[in-house]
Amino acid sequence: MSSIQSLHISHISPPIDLPRLFKLEKRERFAFRAQSPKISSCLVSDAQHKEAASSKPLSKVSKEVIETERNVLVGTYARAPVVFKSGKGCKLYDVDGKEYLDMTAGIAVNSLGHGDPDWVNAVVEQANTLTHVSNVYYSIPQVTLGKRLVEFSFADRVFFTNSGTEANEAAIKFSRKFQRFSNPNNKHPATEFIAFSNSFHGRTMGALALTSKEHYRSPFEPVMPGVTFLEYGKIEEAQKAIQPGKTAAVFVEPIQGEGGIYGATKEFLKILRTACDDAGALLVFDEVQCGLGRTGYLWAYEAFGVTPDIMTLAKPLAGGLPIGVVLTTERVAAAINYGDHGSTFAGGPLVCHAALAVLDKIRNPAFLASVTRKGQYLKELLIKKLGGNQHVKEVRGFGLIVGIELDVQASPLVNACREAGLLVLTAGKGNVVRLVPPLIISEEELELSAEVIRSCLPALDGNASD
Ligand SMILES: Cc1ncc(COP(=O)(O)O)c(C=O)c1O
Repeated sequence: MSSIQSLHISHISPPIDLPRLFKLEKRERFAFRAQSPKISSCLVSDAQHKEAASSKPLSKVSKEVIETERNVLVGTYARAPVVFKSGKGCKLYDVDGKEYLDMTAGIAVNSLGHGDPDWVNAVVEQANTLTHVSNVYYSIPQVTLGKRLVEFSFADRVFFTNSGTEANEAAIKFSRKFQRFSNPNNKHPATEFIAFSNSFHGRTMGALALTSKEHYRSPFEPVMPGVTFLEYGKIEEAQKAIQPGKTAAVFVEPIQGEGGIYGATKEFLKILRTACDDAGALLVFDEVQCGLGRTGYLWAYEAFGVTPDIMTLAKPLAGGLPIGVVLTTERVAAAINYGDHGSTFAGGPLVCHAALAVLDKIRNPAFLASVTRKGQYLKELLIKKLGGNQHVKEVRGFGLIVGIELDVQASPLVNACREAGLLVLTAGKGNVVRLVPPLIISEEELELSAEVIRSCLPALDGNASD
């Protein structure tokens, strides 16, 4: 491996010093508090954040949809006031025909963009053949996808789910069962878990218990007990906390998306690997957001040279259809029996056939190399165009998962970009702009995105940081 590559993978920063060079001092904060509520990509449920301000009046159609939604749906999503009707490539179109450049990809889902012809063909073909049979029976697409995932990853076996949180839920159950199975004479095998600061693993009770933001967990407590949160990247803390007979598994995102685009170091993941081996604990990599090509590697773990016992996947795999997967080793799978876990919909023929089309495109080395190249170009563009702004503290990322950390809340910038026709997300404590575009995005589209963000930066002036 060249020194450039090793620098690239041992750090989330690109193999140049630009981000460090332009990392700015924290500036004085503005006293004025912006009126527009915050929108988070992270599906924030705050009642006060119901709707982002829009300077333009909504069209009749948009208004009707938004009002009806407000009346009939449970109010869990603080949505942006835009109603989408169609999409093609990296563009989305709202009900009024306005075009948007999509740097969100449905929160790191639509890696092939919208309406990829091969994906569309796969869906149509399979919908015309067989959509659902349940897991009472075998189906060819499920077995073919399983075989392909095994062939192209560390895993010996896979288990299908319908989402990222369900994949993590299954990983929790498999970890506990593994500990029971491996320690048959121990009345109290290890049942506890370790997770990290800024982690996001999902919203169901087990995955939620592993999610660091207290704000997400506290309204629903008690969640699954026995989770210890450690600081992401702190090696000594982790070495002390991972204990034989206590720790069933350690859950970690090699690159944290929701938490603010933070990357682990190679050293940190290596130490976790060793500590888990020493303690008989399982190492679980959550690659729900960072897996499947987003980093420029097929799987993020490849970039770190550390192999987990379990990896969870979801978002991009079926190109927008709901899917999740637990990938694991024979050693772990041996602990799981008939009836231990299951799902009516998971691994259905339709999603699996669609996922095969996605996986086969993304695993192409030329495709992965283009992600690395475009990710690097995007960071360079952002550093060049935003580096002089007083609110921009850092640009960081890996492949096409990129964060712009601000010294203020990002929502005014996100809202201004949307009005200018560019869709971007927030992350972290709301102070990071997250860019997770379709992986097929062109260099021209990246240039346009960086330029729109630059032109919208004045929206941050007059915004108080909190
Ligand atoms: C790293 C990670 N894990 C798990 C999840 C949960 O996935 P889902 O929303 O499909 O349940 C997410 C969602 O953002 C995620 O980013």
